[in-house]
Amino acid sequence: MKGLILSGGIASRLWPITYNRAKQLLPLANKPILFYGIESLAKAGIKDIGIIVGQTRDEIMKAVGDGSRWGVKISYIHQQSPDGLAHAVKVARPFLGDADFLMFLGDNMIRDDLKDFIDQFYRDRLNALIVLDKVKNPQQFGVAVIQDDRIVKLLEKPKEFVSDMAIVGLYIFDKNVHSSIDRIKPSKRNELEITDAIQDMIEMGFEVGYGRLKKWWKDTGTPLDMLEANRRLLDEIEGSIEGTTDENTDMKGKVVIGKESRTVNCKIRGPVVIGENCFIKDAELGPYTVVGRGSRIENCKIEDSIIMENCKLINIEKRICNSLIGEDVEISCQGSGSDRYSLVLGSKNRIKSM
Ligand code: G1P
Repeated sequence: MKGLILSGGIASRLWPITYNRAKQLLPLANKPILFYGIESLAKAGIKDIGIIVGQTRDEIMKAVGDGSRWGVKISYIHQQSPDGLAHAVKVARPFLGDADFLMFLGDNMIRDDLKDFIDQFYRDRLNALIVLDKVKNPQQFGVAVIQDDRIVKLLEKPKEFVSDMAIVGLYIFDKNVHSSIDRIKPSKRNELEITDAIQDMIEMGFEVGYGRLKKWWKDTGTPLDMLEANRRLLDEIEGSIEGTTDENTDMKGKVVIGKESRTVNCKIRGPVVIGENCFIKDAELGPYTVVGRGSRIENCKIEDSIIMENCKLINIEKRICNSLIGEDVEISCQGSGSDRYSLVLGSKNRIKSM
């Protein structure tokens, strides 16, 4: 079985963070989202993986490389424009040939063991397997209508409620999906939808089954989704201190401090992950906070936030909460007494007082 990971797209819901960065490379618990996906495929025994890339292809190729670090072989497939998931499969046809394949959306965090779904696909002799999970906001997903344990209808982002069973970003297909993709037409959002291709497979009489998740998953499309996925991953970490903490640093809970990082006079409430080469002084961190490598934080209180690499946050009076701060961001205050701000912001930055 081959693997196909989709890592194109524009990610406008995560602007401005994704203006200059691939959304699949944004860090959760200090590791790019895409790496979790590659690890899951490698763990399930999939060794031949194609990654669909778009505008951000150079960045993704540089970060991921040839796959040898995970013991897999990675090929890159360029999709000129993000014209839908089924379009991506079409573009990948030369790579896929007639092989069965597992398709994984590179911005989804899926904690289940993928091997269970591969086993189900072969055991039940399916032509396609989708994975479903109950959600509170089905209008934001593809959904499946189930009757008598069979999928009867699939719809992409239905405005009217038809089902709360969302399609998770993980699919397994045999070669019959390709002729269905050739038959479907672009949707209202002008994309070739994989949901429509699977609906076509059902109508053509192919065996389309579904699996259910046992663990959690998250489509990390928005800042709030990113923060939630980050919290859930941090709940699973083990603490490890490779950097140094002074005697005035008070730590509770699970804390990771990377190499060459130093904390001075801090209050840290895990789960917290601090990357390598950080300097943190007179700060309160956590719970659920990640600081990217090379950052400097002084005299700040930060909770439930992702601070990416090489940031400088200094003397911020109010507590920073529920925040996503991209790489190389600098926020510094001169101390109390001044009533002025000096700002250098690009478009779509958001600064709110709570
Ligand atoms: C895509 C699929 C949708 C699926 C979702 C899972 O949505 O089209 O059916 O439920 O991924 O993350 P999109 O990422 O295009 O919004």
